[in-house]
Amino acid sequence: MRRAQQLGRYHLLDRIAFGGMAEIYRAKTFDAHGQPHLVAVKRVLAHLAEDDDFIQMLVDEAKIASVLRHQCIARVYEFARAHGEYFIAMEHVDGKDMRTVLERCRTKKKPIPPEHAAYIAAEVGAALHAAHSAVDSRGKPLRIIHRDVSPSNIICSYAGEVKLCDFGIAKATLSRVQTKTGVIKGKVKYMSPEQALGRKLDHRSDVFSLGSCLYEMLTRIPPFTATNEMDLLIKVRDAKYRPIGELQPGIPPELEAITDKCLTRSRANRYQTAAEAEGDLRAFLRKFMPNYSRSHLGRFIRKMFAQEIERELRMLEEFVMTDEVSDDVGENLIPRDEDFDPPEVPFQPKPTSVSVAAIGASDDFSSDSNFTTMPKVEQQDIHAQPTLILENGRARNLAKKSAPPPPPPKSTKRPAAQPIYDEGVHSAPTMIIDINRMRQRQRRGG
Ligand SMILES: Nc1ncnc2c1ncn2[C@@H]1O[C@H](COP(=O)(O)OP(=O)(O)O)[C@@H](O)[C@H]1O
Ligand SMILES: [Mg+2]
Repeated sequence: MRRAQQLGRYHLLDRIAFGGMAEIYRAKTFDAHGQPHLVAVKRVLAHLAEDDDFIQMLVDEAKIASVLRHQCIARVYEFARAHGEYFIAMEHVDGKDMRTVLERCRTKKKPIPPEHAAYIAAEVGAALHAAHSAVDSRGKPLRIIHRDVSPSNIICSYAGEVKLCDFGIAKATLSRVQTKTGVIKGKVKYMSPEQALGRKLDHRSDVFSLGSCLYEMLTRIPPFTATNEMDLLIKVRDAKYRPIGELQPGIPPELEAITDKCLTRSRANRYQTAAEAEGDLRAFLRKFMPNYSRSHLGRFIRKMFAQEIERELRMLEEFVMTDEVSDDVGENLIPRDEDFDPPEVPFQPKPTSVSVAAIGASDDFSSDSNFTTMPKVEQQDIHAQPTLILENGRARNLAKKSAPPPPPPKSTKRPAAQPIYDEGVHSAPTMIIDINRMRQRQRRGG
């Protein structure tokens, strides 16, 4: 039996992922009718709670994501502080992120069939277009750019839904945190050439990154790889990659052409909007497999992770709620201002119609009939690509300070927050890099 820790309106269950800055938990909460719901809670690591810039970055993330309402974007409910901790509560996507899926495919030496790759990319395209074209309450464009479109930020649910998450470094007119010029943010491997150069970005940067994800889904290899960060930046900048057909024979040429158009170095020759890319992907899919539906993807993912799903279900059965449920739901830290009205949070820490005592130890989380989602087991390696800040030497401080609370996974060969580029095709941390500092280091031979 395991007791779920309460955090505001939520009761933390198993941990889904762990990064250098936050941990993601699955959590239980209740709606106004007392019905239980699963959500995902991104809890800030303790030492970062005092870092005002970092907290402001999370406020931005929550603010940006909470204005976005789209079926392909994981919904954000609130960014709050309760019981002395900061956290973002969001829609729980019951499935696996694309990075985990790709890793499994590489281990099993099994491809992702082109229809799934096309469908996933089309859904992400739709999510991106929704973000790019979002407007505020007065109709003013928010100019949201995700900037970190990468496999670990794309989640495929066991039901076959695809959701883009992690607007952690997204930029919008809503953001307060400004990026200095010459500072680049994102996962280098999935960056656009203009991003790798530290240029001013527009939404077409995300289109390029979508192309990198699609390429990797089709070939199981990211388009750009190198043994150190400088070489990787150069490869991304030049946007030269091996043709898909050379790596993976049998990929339909139309799909290869769509990928190439996303991965065009010059922005002017790329798809001009994510919606255009989405349109071509859907047209391809209609021709290639007219009866394709999301349940095909659901089946594919469920089959691939059948054992995990079983284990995850059993694990959820172990949790019970604390005996004393506190009424302290904390404070929502997304500020209300003239052009932003944070949405109401539809949850509460306990089912109001039932007395606290009645919830007690008999509250077996697995017995909730309305769970639409299936539980996840703690996967310590799932999040082995930490978000790092390398600007002004902060990453090193972070790496030093962020001693991960749980025991390190057996398979991990390195501490979570160390940027190593040549280790595996998928070790791609989200980074904030000061290009000038990096050039200096390079010159010094460091
Ligand atoms: N809403 C969610 N539902 C389910 N899993 C999630 C959700 N959000 C994130 N995750 C999992 O946690 C991982 C890290 O979350 P993310 O928000 O990308 O944090 P980070 O900023 O550390 O990259 C994702 O790759 C995914 O596996
Ligand atoms: Mg992420």
